[in-house]
Amino acid sequence: MNIQEKYAVQNIKIPVTLWINGEAVRLEIDPKWTMLYVLREVLDLTGTKCGCKTGDCGACKIIADGTAVNACTLLARKAHEQQMKIETIESLADGESLHPIQEAFVECGAVQCGYCTPGMIIAAKALLDRNPDPDENEIRAALANNICRCTGYVKIVEAIQLSAKRLKEGGKNGK
Ligand code: FES
Ligand code: FES
Repeated sequence: MNIQEKYAVQNIKIPVTLWINGEAVRLEIDPKWTMLYVLREVLDLTGTKCGCKTGDCGACKIIADGTAVNACTLLARKAHEQQMKIETIESLADGESLHPIQEAFVECGAVQCGYCTPGMIIAAKALLDRNPDPDENEIRAALANNICRCTGYVKIVEAIQLSAKRLKEGGKNGK
């Protein structure tokens, strides 16, 4: 019996500490739970969307230690063991004040049904955090694993270009 089977048979839960949006969250989790499950179903952080659950659509993107990753393929146990610093879409706005990337998505018309939008914005934030001045190819590469079935991507790329410009100028809400 491997360790996953042992946990399943015994319905074992383990204590973990997850670092989410700057806070330490202490929980008991099933070792098989993904970060997507913990965020949405345990912590009610439903801004992170569930699309495919197989790592193919990008709707569930979060930032883990500075890198955009799919929450549906990241075990919460691993985030605990590696003390990953997790950022979700809920961390971006400052009260009623949207983050410049969020503002730019609205202004550029980069949102239609909106289902892909949190994942797109998180992918954009991870990109701009490490590269404040990306060219269009770099933006498109950063979105390569994020699927949008509505917009055709042009407005999304424009929104990221606009938010990069604004962030370089100092941002609107200091984030
Ligand atoms: S729900 Fe995670 S990549 Fe689609
Ligand atoms: S806006 Fe609908 S999937 Fe992207």
